[in-house]
Amino acid sequence: MESELRYTYLPSSLHIFESVPSTNQTLWRLLKDGADKNSVVIATQQTSGRGQWGREWISPTGGLYLSVGVVPKLEAADSYRLTLASAWGIAAQLRQCGISVGIKWPNDLVLEGRKLGGILTETKVNNGQITQAVIGVGINWANPVPETGINLQSWQDSQPHQAISGLEMLTKTVLVGIQSGIDCLSQEGISVLLSKYLDLLTNIGEQVYIDNLLGTVVGVTTRGNLHISFDIKELNDIKMPEIYLEPGTISLGYRKSSVLF
Ligand code: BTN
Repeated sequence: MESELRYTYLPSSLHIFESVPSTNQTLWRLLKDGADKNSVVIATQQTSGRGQWGREWISPTGGLYLSVGVVPKLEAADSYRLTLASAWGIAAQLRQCGISVGIKWPNDLVLEGRKLGGILTETKVNNGQITQAVIGVGINWANPVPETGINLQSWQDSQPHQAISGLEMLTKTVLVGIQSGIDCLSQEGISVLLSKYLDLLTNIGEQVYIDNLLGTVVGVTTRGNLHISFDIKELNDIKMPEIYLEPGTISLGYRKSSVLF
């Protein structure tokens, strides 16, 4: 009985739209108009989907586009934990369905080395504390994808077993995943969550060039920064055995080698 309850997700308020500019934007508007702080917005398509770092998230019919309201007890400086928690939770739920999804730092869900989905967390802050967060998730289900992307329906068609029967089941799986990630963060803490996130991170051991120096990805910090260590111990008398990069300062790309922006 307990495990059945654990895997049931009943959003307090569910808003479903045919087409919106962005489910994140729509949820912020609903919240402003007094909607429940844990509301969920789902749309069939988005006309101005928002991606990370101000990019556009192309959102034709066939994909999953949803946003979830969360009120975490978190300082603004720790807001990236919500993205780490959601990425881990969603990947872990899909893996329970036999879909071997990994995480590409910081917020990409990957399948067979290609992008399956992404997460965009937005926050409102007062006195250094998050007062409201909106976690937006886009997953490629049956929508067309670029060369570096993959859609789950086509991938499943090539498998002997189709664990996800359609967009509705994918929606439920993603909502349960977000909930389990946030529960893990709030109940078990960032150290436990981070070790689970790192278990699914595809970048560990990856070699990256930073200013022409070859480094290796060795981890991610509790604030979501990428930890890179260098083989050389000294450079022009400056010791630089390791660095920490904030999300958005480097693109690991979908190739083996990486470049600094
Ligand atoms: C990324 O750049 O990888 C993050 C993409 C996040 C896209 C989702 S789709 C639902 C929600 N609404 C938005 O406008 N963006 C997020």
